[in-house]
Amino acid sequence: MADTQKSAKLTIDGQDFDLPVHSPTVGPDVVDIRKLYGQAGVFTYDPGFTSTAACESAITFIDGDEGVLLHRGYPIGQLAGQSHYLEVCYLLLYGNLPSAAELQDFEGRVTQHTMIHEQMHNFFRGFRRDAHPMATMVGVVGAMSAFYHDSTDINDAWQREVASIRLIAKMPTIAAMAYKYSIGQPFVYPRNDLDYASNFLRMCFSVPAEDYHADPILARAMDRIFTLHADHEQNASTSTVRLASSSGANPFACIAAGIACLWGPAHGGANQACLEMLNEIGTVDRIPEFIARAKDKNDPFRLMGFGHRVYKNFDPRATVMKESADEVLDLLGVENNPILQVAKELEKQALADPYFADKKLFPNVDFYSGIILEAMGFPTSMFTPIFALSRTVGWISQWKEQLSDPALKIGRPRQLYTGETQRDYIPVEKR
Ligand code: CMC
Repeated sequence: MADTQKSAKLTIDGQDFDLPVHSPTVGPDVVDIRKLYGQAGVFTYDPGFTSTAACESAITFIDGDEGVLLHRGYPIGQLAGQSHYLEVCYLLLYGNLPSAAELQDFEGRVTQHTMIHEQMHNFFRGFRRDAHPMATMVGVVGAMSAFYHDSTDINDAWQREVASIRLIAKMPTIAAMAYKYSIGQPFVYPRNDLDYASNFLRMCFSVPAEDYHADPILARAMDRIFTLHADHEQNASTSTVRLASSSGANPFACIAAGIACLWGPAHGGANQACLEMLNEIGTVDRIPEFIARAKDKNDPFRLMGFGHRVYKNFDPRATVMKESADEVLDLLGVENNPILQVAKELEKQALADPYFADKKLFPNVDFYSGIILEAMGFPTSMFTPIFALSRTVGWISQWKEQLSDPALKIGRPRQLYTGETQRDYIPVEKR
């Protein structure tokens, strides 16, 4: 953390407190309030963490006003256009782009871990067939701590490394199995001669009676969806992973916590919610009705796939995702798909509406990803599991970074208490 000579002054009841200010390599300065309670006896109040940095990190940088997203300094557009998911995984985990030999070694290590313990198949079978695949994933990933005891010791660097590789390698297998189970088809084992994205597509779409060969354009689009979701700074699920891990919990438990948080419709669940919304709108003529509902303060309805806590101009991931959507829909010959027509028209009308312009609400990555995934043949219930498998590397990179931070403390926010003050217990017969 770079220390500037700057400091901030806080005055409470006429008494001044000097607070150090730290400068990041890029982005706004940060007022360090760690000693504030000890010195001034007050807490700060920031529900939703809109102005609070909860950690120091060197992985991902976002400038929401400029629509910038950098992983280890590299712009997301360059990574999505010129790199591929496993290379981005390496970059996020280890800090730099790999040499050819390092990449080959990393891909080899991931590939060797794609299968899951055979006994875990029974674990899947304990779920109802109609369970949401995210519910199954929360359970199965949490259960990995019961199957891989040799990589749960967070104080052992080698075990941390093995757990990281295992999670990246097994997540596509687990997501595909959750899907296969939900549709009553047999599990498909991974094939290690395929690349990461093609292998996932095959595990989802092949059956014993008929193999599946991923079209390279679809495999590329799948890989790009993984890449675009790989990490996103201190979002809700990543912060959940960090908070869970701050107590010393094992990596599989922490990632299961991240998956649970991601599921919500304000976060990773938005891709499913967005496509369901487009289906509900159904036809272009109904768009004004839904825009009016989104603007109505008395209606909780929001345009799913619109808005972002940090991006207030455009979401750079959405720009790439939109291009990818055009490519995939063109390949599959579904450019005239009615839902796509609704999506395009909704985007146009919302962007022209002062409500959305004034509040800086733009389509986010989830507005387009669902359209691509549906065209590829995924049911809406698989959209968020695909987000979860993509984000796993981000969660793990942040988890590893946190564990190597000497300033690590258990996360323990304080509160603004507004309940009863102390009062005496009254026995039930006297109440
Ligand atoms: N439709 C209509 N109004 C909206 C929307 C929307 N999608 N998003 C925000 N607003 C309004 C909101 O009502 C509020 O208005 P006012 O100031 O008059 O009360 C204002 O914009 C600010 O909203 P907020 O809820 O205070 O903003 P936030 O930063 O807490 O929420 C968000 C960000 C992403 C949760 C929110 O924009 C939202 O719910 N969007 C829809 C869900 C979605 O697409 N989520 C995916 C995010 S991208 C993927 C990911 O990273 O998970």
